[in-house]
Amino acid sequence: MKLELDFPEKLDFLFEPSRYKILYGGRGSGKSWGVARALIAKAVKTPVRVLCARELQNSISDSVIALLADQIRAMDLDSFFDVQRTAIYGKNGSEFSFVGLKHNVTSIKSFEGVDICWCEEGQAISKTSWETLIPTVRKPGSEIWVTFNPDLDTDETYRRFVVNPPANSVVRKVNWDDNPWFPEVLKDELEQLKQKDIDAYLNVWEGHTRQMLDGAVYANELRKAQEQNRVRDFLIDKTIPIQTFWDLGWADMTSIWFIQYIAGGEVRIVDFYQNCQKTIDHYVHILENKGYVYKDWWLPHDAENKNMTGKSVKDILMAMGKPIRITPKLSVADGINSARTLLDRCYIHETNCADGIQNLRHYRYDVDPNTKMFSNKPLHDQHSHAADAFRYAAVGLDENVSTWSKSINKPAKWVV
Ligand SMILES: Nc1ncnc2c1ncn2[C@@H]1O[C@H](COP(=O)(O)OP(=O)(O)OP(=O)(O)O)[C@@H](O)[C@H]1O
Ligand SMILES: [Mg+2]
Repeated sequence: MKLELDFPEKLDFLFEPSRYKILYGGRGSGKSWGVARALIAKAVKTPVRVLCARELQNSISDSVIALLADQIRAMDLDSFFDVQRTAIYGKNGSEFSFVGLKHNVTSIKSFEGVDICWCEEGQAISKTSWETLIPTVRKPGSEIWVTFNPDLDTDETYRRFVVNPPANSVVRKVNWDDNPWFPEVLKDELEQLKQKDIDAYLNVWEGHTRQMLDGAVYANELRKAQEQNRVRDFLIDKTIPIQTFWDLGWADMTSIWFIQYIAGGEVRIVDFYQNCQKTIDHYVHILENKGYVYKDWWLPHDAENKNMTGKSVKDILMAMGKPIRITPKLSVADGINSARTLLDRCYIHETNCADGIQNLRHYRYDVDPNTKMFSNKPLHDQHSHAADAFRYAAVGLDENVSTWSKSINKPAKWVV
């Protein structure tokens, strides 16, 4: 079958072999259409297994399946492909499947046979997701394609693939003026934003990174911590007891910060863990296998809510003999103030806490739909769970070192 493709010149590299193909830039630059068309063309030519991944995919409608189906139709290939509800199959055995990385970090490992993994909205992909996905795409000659609109310059994907690209990668920046079919309606939007807010224009349309999100709650504190070289890797003294601070979720993320308080006032944020749709046993297993000495496991108030069997998370963990404490109640605003104070003095382990820091950087105030002003309430989204747990840490952190020797390994009796 011979295919005639309308294709932006700058995207030709998609047809040359390379382990990583990174395509980033401003809105409307033809990234999604270009990649969809290139993948469809490849799938027609030879049988390939394509995994279309994104960080969050709550339902199949969040995926690129509709985009691929539209392109298949536009390319007159309806008779070659069978577009089903959650997958697309080619007559030659080619296959497209769709997955959200964040909620499936463990099942991702079953996608070993893929030839090409297309990561759309790549700016949102976390360090943990990359570290699980990359070694899974392991078939000889397999490729990872990433499309994204840059967000913060500190985001994992931007740092991993643009600032420090792996050796075998092609990295291309594309913008609206590289797209011969750039729609007129977007041209108007672009001109308006350029007049109104040049920084936003540079980010949205020219693909520049931002140093700060609009309404970011901890932007100043995190910038200061970075400037003062307090966000970095350091040797973790595993003999110093750790307090863990939890935010609980099931569909949402359960987020846990691991913190050491050192006599004299130093606070070291040494680790971070996040997962979802896992039972409590899973988190216990993770914590027990980290090799730390624990002082307290601080749970949020909802850990005292009973489930259908009449047991709460607190009950379950206490029955296991874990050193449970419940975080003191404080308003969100007061918690944020405490978190700011903590961020002004703590050291954060950059590698271990990468996902947590990324969430803290993206934690932002909601916009009031009526006034269009930032409200004083932070947005509840995928970033807020780690930020909530951090708030609990700032409120609950026990700096009373003298009581520590008593509480270590004598959990249930010492519960406050
Ligand atoms: N090969 C093509 N043929 C015809 N039109 C195209 C082609 N590629 C892109 N376009 C047009 O350009 C528009 C923008 O393309 P696309 O959605 O791929 O951009 P994008 O870079 O993914 O944008 P965003 O960053 O907003 O996701 C499309 O909606 C379509 O109208
Ligand atoms: Mg796109």
